Amino acid sequence: MKIMVVGGGGREHAIIKKLKENDALKTIYALPGNAGMRGDAVCTGIKAMDLDAIADFAKKNEIDYAVVTPDDPLVAGCVDRLSALGIPCFGPDAKAAVIEGSKVFSKNLMKKYGIPTAAYEVFSDIDAALEYVEECPLPTVVKADGLALGKGVIIAETRQEARDALLSIMRDKKFGASGNSVVIEEFLEGPELSVLSFTDGTKLVPMVSSMDHKRALDGDRGLNTGGMGAIAPNPYYSEDIAARCMQEIFIPTMNAMNAEGRKFKGCLYFGLMLTRDGPKLIEYNCRFGDPETQVVLPLLKTDLLEIMKAVTEERLAEIEVEFSKDCACCVIMASEGYPGDYEKGFELHIPAELDAEVYIAGAAERDGVLVSNGGRVLGCTAVAESLPLAVKKAYDAVSRISFANAYYRKDIGARALKGMEV
Ligand code: AMP
Ligand code: GLY
Repeated sequence: MKIMVVGGGGREHAIIKKLKENDALKTIYALPGNAGMRGDAVCTGIKAMDLDAIADFAKKNEIDYAVVTPDDPLVAGCVDRLSALGIPCFGPDAKAAVIEGSKVFSKNLMKKYGIPTAAYEVFSDIDAALEYVEECPLPTVVKADGLALGKGVIIAETRQEARDALLSIMRDKKFGASGNSVVIEEFLEGPELSVLSFTDGTKLVPMVSSMDHKRALDGDRGLNTGGMGAIAPNPYYSEDIAARCMQEIFIPTMNAMNAEGRKFKGCLYFGLMLTRDGPKLIEYNCRFGDPETQVVLPLLKTDLLEIMKAVTEERLAEIEVEFSKDCACCVIMASEGYPGDYEKGFELHIPAELDAEVYIAGAAERDGVLVSNGGRVLGCTAVAESLPLAVKKAYDAVSRISFANAYYRKDIGARALKGMEV
């Protein structure tokens, strides 16, 4: 069987490594992939947004199954294109991917179907938006409607920050057409939780919960990044909270998408906040999260390809999806300076024997050696029977990996460990 995975980062590396556990799998192609995953997949260099080249590649190579992971090709209709060629895919079609592609759509969906979320207003007129932030409670949260490389959310502590956010999104079009509309919403407080789920539109199976660490610096300070580390399971996700989320958020979302004629098939990601008033939905992603995938999939016991095919064929109800009781911690090693400017091209030193998995997010090959080639360079995931042990093992492994300008947070898991005390 020949599979292709569209995408090229650490999340894709984790998916590819997990898929490889299936014996029927002969070849995995990554589009584009990166040099660091060459031992696990054939990296084609084809860009994840080059839908013509992706379709051509799939046809020429007689691909049996495709997994589309990043948000932009999903929103742009990559799955629609491949499905039209008769290639079964894992991932939502464009109609369903709008759940991440438009925050106006997703907020309106939550409101219409009574799914708990932050109170909000939508604006497509900049003057009306500017007027609104003169009066609204602070801090307030300004969000560009469309995809913005994870940078379209601004938490404004002051009116000036709110004005600046609106001007850069709506007037200067910092994120292009994604800023034609904005959502301005209530600031919520509480521990954050990520829950990825498999759904085929009929059944929804939540995966092990996790916690991302989005800010660049220790103590959740500094700029927002693509994610500096993650742990799973999330200790704040008690059985009681899980049951509430299922009943108040997950199942209502699946049903709402069906009612809107936008059946969602793939991995639906719920970004949640545990507020004093209970769990509230911050955002949906139409795909696996990065770096949540790097802690969730190592705990999956059921064959990933079997689950994915069951989702595509709408027979998820027939499959038992099992996770181990262990805990996982992933520490991201980035290039110093990320998410701002950084240097790359430094040789990676990764010992062959490590008590952890290394998922390469951004590497290239130079004279036969791997060198850093991105902001986030790699993720190092350790699994153990408890969270403190998993954290320790992950940092032990990280201390043995090096490249010239490596930077990583020292406190991945600290907030979760605090959550275990209460
Ligand atoms: P998003 O791109 O929607 O994931 O938002 C990025 C981050 O901004 C989230 O992970 C939260 O930490 C934060 N955030 C988004 N919306 C809110 C909100 N209404 N209140 C507080 N923080 C928020
Ligand atoms: N970790 C959050 C995301 O993938 O968007």
